[in-house]
Amino acid sequence: MTEAQYRQGSTGSEDGYTRACALSDLPPGEGAIGVEVEGEPVAIIRAGGELYALRDACSHAEVALSEGEIYDHTVECWLHGSCFDLRTGNPTGPPATEPVATYRVKIEGDGVFVSLG
Ligand code: FES
Repeated sequence: MTEAQYRQGSTGSEDGYTRACALSDLPPGEGAIGVEVEGEPVAIIRAGGELYALRDACSHAEVALSEGEIYDHTVECWLHGSCFDLRTGNPTGPPATEPVATYRVKIEGDGVFVSLG
C-alpha cells in the first residue's frame, strides 16, 4: 500500500490518543485497514471481537500488514508469510524474526483512537 492509499487520521490528540479512523471504516467481522497516525503507518485490526493496532510494516521487508490475512489473533504477511501475534507483535512464524510495534487502542463513540506512546 502506498502512503497515498492510507486513510488520514485526525491530527487531534487527547490523553495521548489520536483519532485513527471511524469504527465504521473497519470491515465488518475480522479485517484490517491501514491508516496514518502522526505520520506513522498503523494497521487497525479487528479480530475475535477485539481491536488491535500494530505498526503497519512487516519487520521482514516493510510491506503493509493491513493487507495480510487475519486469523486466530494472528496477522499473516501477504508477501512471504511471516505471522505476528496481534496482542504482542511478536513473530510466530518465519521468516520474520523481529517483532512489530503494538499500540494501545480505544473506541470512543464511532472513533478509533491510538496511542503511539
Ligand atoms: S515482507 Fe513480510 S514476510 Fe517478508
